[in-house]
Amino acid sequence: MNLKELFNLRQSTREFSDRPVEDKTLEEICKLATSAPSAVNLQPYNLYAVNGEKAKQFTKYVQTNGANKWADGCPAYIVIQSREPHAVMRGERRVSNEPFIANDVGILAAYIVLAAEDMGVQTCIIGLRDEKGIADFLSVTENKKFPLIIAVGYAAENYPVRDKKRRDFSLTYKLIK
Ligand SMILES: Cc1cc2nc3c(=O)[nH]c(=O)nc-3n(C[C@H](O)[C@H](O)[C@H](O)COP(=O)(O)O)c2cc1C
Repeated sequence: MNLKELFNLRQSTREFSDRPVEDKTLEEICKLATSAPSAVNLQPYNLYAVNGEKAKQFTKYVQTNGANKWADGCPAYIVIQSREPHAVMRGERRVSNEPFIANDVGILAAYIVLAAEDMGVQTCIIGLRDEKGIADFLSVTENKKFPLIIAVGYAAENYPVRDKKRRDFSLTYKLIK
């Protein structure tokens, strides 16, 4: 599959088949995705793969206030935890990744969903979540920040590949020369 095909196939999938996702597949997706660039190369995140019975129990943390009802059928999740900011010295210069953590997480999420699609696994990025509930669920005592969750599974049979609905490109793009 070339990159154009991959970009086209990747879409938010909100109906999954009963096919379970193998632990090894989740690990491979995460490993591939950690090739993503990050500010000062600090990778300010950890990844938790939540699978099987644990994924069923986890679903309620992405369904706060009635959101994401579709996640009832989701077989697995990849949870992104963001870590404390760090600073490094570049010679005399102190460089901090703090202002860029959200960017790093977003780029990582993009890598995760594209790596998954390349392996024939579908995803949906989820921003609505109960961070406190997730921290308790994962028994995490520090860095209780989980900026994005990725739902992971195999699309339900005959789940359509939709045309991308996007803002008119001519509004987005300007060539300056
Ligand atoms: C940061 C972020 C948060 C999102 N949160 C949710 C969410 O909570 N629930 C959901 O169903 N989709 C969520 N989405 C998916 C978007 O709705 C989706 O990417 C967008 O409509 C474009 O559709 P596509 O992914 O199928 O191309 C989120 C996407 C991003 C990038």
